[in-house]
Amino acid sequence: MVAKNIPALAPVVAVLNMKGGVGKTAISAHVMRVLYLKLLKRTLLIDFDPQFNLTQTVVHQATYENLKKENRTILSVMEPAPQTSLFTITTNLAPPPPLADVSVLLKKVKNNPAELRLVPGDFGLVKYSLIDDANSLKPVKNRFVTFVANARATMDLVCIDCNPSSSFMTLCALEVATHLLIPVRPDRFSILGLELLDAFVSDLPTLKQKPKQLIVLNGIPRSNYNPAVENILRSHPKFGTRTLSTPLYHSSLLAANPSYTGFATDKLVPHRLRVTSNIETLAMEIGKELGISS
Ligand SMILES: Nc1ncnc2c1ncn2[C@@H]1O[C@H](COP(=O)(O)OP(=O)(O)OP(=O)(O)O)[C@@H](O)[C@H]1O
Ligand SMILES: [Mg+2]
Repeated sequence: MVAKNIPALAPVVAVLNMKGGVGKTAISAHVMRVLYLKLLKRTLLIDFDPQFNLTQTVVHQATYENLKKENRTILSVMEPAPQTSLFTITTNLAPPPPLADVSVLLKKVKNNPAELRLVPGDFGLVKYSLIDDANSLKPVKNRFVTFVANARATMDLVCIDCNPSSSFMTLCALEVATHLLIPVRPDRFSILGLELLDAFVSDLPTLKQKPKQLIVLNGIPRSNYNPAVENILRSHPKFGTRTLSTPLYHSSLLAANPSYTGFATDKLVPHRLRVTSNIETLAMEIGKELGISS
């Protein structure tokens, strides 16, 4: 019998760290934007944080309000719209909606399938931190899992910007992730945070496949840098080999700016090339680790 050439499913990267403010959203937006363009990949971003910072980073508020009116957000992935209450879960859930109904096209390469798409975030996700009943949430998780499984067949990469807690949403993301991209700041608490995350992932009884961990150092100063924490991390018996060789440097272009909505590398400022070059090197390394770069 001749083996059929079945296309590989897209990798699913959960950008995750229970620690807040380490750069999950900055990496989901700005590094993935460069990865999509450099590697020409059909890339899906999922804003999986009730604070929806990823969406606010790249989508203007007026546009977001329209998307919300159309129920084009992550909440419609979890449960059908309209959502009536923050405290009840829909029963007898139907299969998830098609990707086109709940996502928005952000970027597209002419005459090429490559595109960057976003499932916008929604504050309504907060209900899954308020309701603490694993049984009633199980169908919601299954709907999310099916949605991501469907997306893997039509996209080249799925990237989930997670919220900074060990919540139901984290469990959903872990269930679908093939890889964890874990940003860490070079501070003395980061190694402990990695130990805790590693223990959490290893001990999860529901996890069929353990996602591969990729650690990325973020916010490294270009000058006056004390590499003590980085040295500990790179020589760590478990985390050393999981740490990407390219760090993401601190840059004012990557810092959230209330007067600019969009991707950092699209902003025309004099020092853009230095930042873009750093992000490109990181994006290429990530692409290689994910097995999607040629
Ligand atoms: N390399 C960097 N250079 C400069 N600023 C950065 C960099 N990375 C992140 N930031 C800024 O640090 C802040 C926190 O980053 P970000 O929102 O990406 O973290 P997060 O892990 O997603 O946070 P949360 O846990 O709240 O979701 C933001 O203002 C962001 O713009
Ligand atoms: Mg965030």
